[in-house]
Amino acid sequence: MKNRLAVAIDGPSGAGKSTIAKLLAQELGFLYVDTGALYRAIGYEVIKRGGKPDDAEFVTGLLPELNVELKCGSGAQFVFVNGCDVSDLIRSPEVSMAASAVSAMPEVRRFLFNLQRDTALKNDVIMDGRDIGTVVLPDADIKIFLTASVEDRARRRFAELIQKGVETSYTDVLDDMKKRDYNDSHRKTAPLKAAHDAIKVDTTGNTLEQSVNILKELILNFISNGKKK
Ligand code: DC
Repeated sequence: MKNRLAVAIDGPSGAGKSTIAKLLAQELGFLYVDTGALYRAIGYEVIKRGGKPDDAEFVTGLLPELNVELKCGSGAQFVFVNGCDVSDLIRSPEVSMAASAVSAMPEVRRFLFNLQRDTALKNDVIMDGRDIGTVVLPDADIKIFLTASVEDRARRRFAELIQKGVETSYTDVLDDMKKRDYNDSHRKTAPLKAAHDAIKVDTTGNTLEQSVNILKELILNFISNGKKK
């Protein structure tokens, strides 16, 4: 781990983690890892096979049948399950809620732990998720907890979904976001919370460029003051 640089970005849904992390990774030459996509892939498989995402017995029984792989670059990431690329299938509101449900199960978190950890051991990463700074990479070089008001986050997520052609309403997105916030921060295993040594950044009202610049400065300061890439 120590020869590699690891930037952990945690925070609630829609705070801009993945958009910002992707841009920073491209610009700074890191590997971008979106760990939410892994939980989404499990949620998607559960639905596809006719299971209920909150049925722990079904979900944990399915895990041994799943081979989840990440193929990442600096700009894009693809998730494969049993050799099939599911990257485009895991972005629907239904899969978002399923991902939130399965992510509360300790077996699911254990199942995905090594994949995340190994990726960070082998690469300089910007990894985004909910428990990266607290559980997956507690020794990350820089930990950022990115947040924004729930209304701001719902507005951004709504715009993204509309752009992708998903039929939904702002109110539905806001309600889903509140539910996911609650689930993600109240679950027993690895709940969403800022690591004690995380830098908190609130992006409410910021443009994307402003938020990217704030994080870029934090990372570049770290690199120039300490470890070199
Ligand atoms: O970041 P996202 O919206 O794609 O994440 C989907 C769900 O997965 C989210 O509700 C919480 C969960 N998740 C998690 O529990 N831990 C992570 N490291 C990443 C995501």
